[in-house]
Amino acid sequence: MKLALIGFGSVGQGLVRLLIEKQAALAQQYGFAAQVTAVITRSRGNLYHPEGLDLSALLTAAEKGSFAGYPDSPDLRRDISAEGVAAAPYVDVVVEASPTDLRTGQPALDLCYTALEHGKHVVLANKGPVALDFVNLMERAKQCGRQVLFEGTVMSGTPALRLAREALAGAVVSQVRGILNGTTNYMLSLMEQGRAYDDVLAEAQRLGYAEADPTADVDGWDAAGKLLILASALFGRTFKLADLDVRGIRDLTPEDLRAAAADGMRYKLIAEASQAGGSVQPVKLPVSHPLAGVSGANNAVTFTTDVLGDVTLVGVGAGGLQTGFAVLSDLLALHRHA
Ligand SMILES: NC(=O)c1ccc[n+]([C@@H]2O[C@H](COP(=O)([O-])OP(=O)(O)OC[C@H]3O[C@@H](n4cnc5c(N)ncnc54)[C@H](OP(=O)(O)O)[C@@H]3O)[C@@H](O)[C@H]2O)c1
Repeated sequence: MKLALIGFGSVGQGLVRLLIEKQAALAQQYGFAAQVTAVITRSRGNLYHPEGLDLSALLTAAEKGSFAGYPDSPDLRRDISAEGVAAAPYVDVVVEASPTDLRTGQPALDLCYTALEHGKHVVLANKGPVALDFVNLMERAKQCGRQVLFEGTVMSGTPALRLAREALAGAVVSQVRGILNGTTNYMLSLMEQGRAYDDVLAEAQRLGYAEADPTADVDGWDAAGKLLILASALFGRTFKLADLDVRGIRDLTPEDLRAAAADGMRYKLIAEASQAGGSVQPVKLPVSHPLAGVSGANNAVTFTTDVLGDVTLVGVGAGGLQTGFAVLSDLLALHRHA
């Protein structure tokens, strides 16, 4: 399987590390072998080689901040663009792991269509295209006889989408409810110990959980983007941000959390959707509730089903290697169905 990586940051590099580490096991257990034939970045440069790039040399060059030091060879091209890669021969799957834009989905969204029209499968870590244009994208993939997979967009490598779409196939899922943002869950866990919002935000930023501009996390937009994807995938229509009521944790105080604790309750930033619509908002849950027990930067999701009642999955929700693993799981799914 020949891969083109659009974006080579923590997710792209995480995937390549896994391809190196697990190469022998993947070949032996699943008959799976992947080559990375192209890598596109914003500032490190671009590379394309029909016979596959040297993965270790790629990581070394990326760590140095530039592909300038990647060894030259006769068929190596450095002048290819993302659009060029999406149309190029020697690419079976375009892996989109460039930054998420939840307003337009671009430039990744256009790239997904170009890739499909040129007969490539698409695997996304980037949330934008599936959060904003789910139905059209899936329809186009079907017309092109190709697949768009996006396990890493929700809960990184913890298989929330695959559980809902494959393991729970045949059951009716009427509601999804979860903790989809690890940063705010971590912050709430610390605030429960009496620490103030600004103090725990500074700590989350120091640990790299929160961005310098924390709006996407603390105001609920990151969770809302993931909820759009989950809801669209489960209920088969494109959910829009306008379908969701979104509030973050900015207005919660340690006093609110203490008062809740005195009543045997705990605040969580809960993302919730059914056919009718959904919300992201702080919700007080009894401490015995499965989602109330999810602490630190973990994520969790509960699917309410007709046959099994509630099914809850808890696990890691972010990380380059973990999201790289989600991409790998999508590649293995493509390989299984090839
Ligand atoms: N990290 C996670 O835990 C996680 C979890 C789930 C989903 N995701 C999603 O996965 C995607 C990648 O995340 P990341 O953590 O790997 O981000 P990252 O470390 O910031 O890396 C982003 C990569 O994309 C490149 N890039 C920027 N603009 C580009 C463009 N217009 N065209 C092509 N490449 C471009 C960057 O180039 P330079 O190398 O030159 O900067 C960099 O290589 C994001 O959409 C993110 O939301 C991440």
